[in-house]
Amino acid sequence: MDKFVIRGGNPLLGTVRVSGAKNSALPCMAAAILTAEEVVLENIPQVQDIETERKLLVSMGAEVELGYGRAQHRTTVSCAVLSDPVAKYEIVKTMRASSLVLGPLIARTGVARVAMPGGCAIGGRPIDLHIKGLEKMGATISYEHGYIEAKAERLKGTEILFDKITVTGTEDLLMAAVLAEGETVFENCACEPEVVDLATMLIGMGAKIEGAGTPTIRVQGVDKLHGVRHRINPDRIEAGTFLVAGAITGGDLQLTNCNPEHLGAVIHKLQECGARIDILGKDAIRVRSEGNLKAADVSTQEYPGFPTDMQAQYMALATQAEGASLVVENIFENRFMHVSELARMGANIKVEGRTATITGKSPLSAAAVMCSDLRASASLVLAALVADGESILDRVYHMDRGYEHIEEKLRGVGAQIRRMGKVFG
Ligand code: UD1
Repeated sequence: MDKFVIRGGNPLLGTVRVSGAKNSALPCMAAAILTAEEVVLENIPQVQDIETERKLLVSMGAEVELGYGRAQHRTTVSCAVLSDPVAKYEIVKTMRASSLVLGPLIARTGVARVAMPGGCAIGGRPIDLHIKGLEKMGATISYEHGYIEAKAERLKGTEILFDKITVTGTEDLLMAAVLAEGETVFENCACEPEVVDLATMLIGMGAKIEGAGTPTIRVQGVDKLHGVRHRINPDRIEAGTFLVAGAITGGDLQLTNCNPEHLGAVIHKLQECGARIDILGKDAIRVRSEGNLKAADVSTQEYPGFPTDMQAQYMALATQAEGASLVVENIFENRFMHVSELARMGANIKVEGRTATITGKSPLSAAAVMCSDLRASASLVLAALVADGESILDRVYHMDRGYEHIEEKLRGVGAQIRRMGKVFG
């Protein structure tokens, strides 16, 4: 299993090119299921979750060519034949977002079999809202041998009010609605830029969608969709992670190929902490800090609020800020797995329910730590960049799920980081 060895202490200086958003690329690849024609996606990040999605689509009969060698990270997906509309457990268990194929599969083929995501269908991260929506659209749902089977001759437009805001739930049902008969009106939708990215692609395929990016989305179903060429949004979470990296190390980083408009809450919070941030036009940002950071409270919210996917990274920063910062996690229970590892590096963090209190500034000392999930890994990398000595991060496969060539990007701006073990890619 790969490990990162990181020696802390260097301020990060230079320019980082932000990759395409994994969380946009995943639904956009799934959307290719909706047409028999070829779909070309640009700016697809070279990360493990995308490789998993490729395997998933190929296992269903699709042809997928991930063109990383060429410019634009161009990927071609052709779902002319979907001989086996099944998302198998072996694949779904490694990536919960595999449930995103449920909506497009049933819309295109009339039947979908998707393995229930490993142990969390009823527990911490359920997909009950996806199922409820499909049932409302006329699908018959059954459960057998760990699989959800959904069937419908043709889905029917209806009104769907999400009980809770869900990003992939909104995306999954949006993909179901575009080929349904008649109008579907969704209320209480996720407004994340990834939903808008998907809707833009679907509109390019001939879908009739209004209101993506607002809580109400209206879809007029069409009979057929066609191929499209679509460019994936920049990854706002990767960009946010590098903004924190610049601020925490007392560095001076310029991020290119990003979208500052998607980073409002993160930029605002880093400014409150004392980092200097300059927007350098439509697709670039500069972050600078002298290292004299101040505590600031954070409460995770749906977009445009502070993203839960930046909570762990922000917590690493808070350990280096003067004073007490309160971090409240409102989206996911149990998303404080990085706390115990940060504490092992010397952070002063107390957790009570959904609230963590971080008291800084704590000198961090290098340690051997374990990555527990994607964003927790990012938080530990950030902490290691300012720790005294050489840290060893185990299980970096979590990081590889969502950060493209992270160690090369960090090394390029002066971090001392190397990988031990097999190199991904
Ligand atoms: C997506 C992102 C993930 C991010 C999250 C929140 C992708 C591939 N992943 O995950 O990185 O952290 O949004 O911004 O885009 N819920 C239910 N029932 C459902 C669905 C969700 O109760 O059927 C709950 C979840 O348990 C959670 C909340 O709704 O408490 C939000 O989850 P959701 O927005 O669905 O997260 P994902 O789409 O899985």
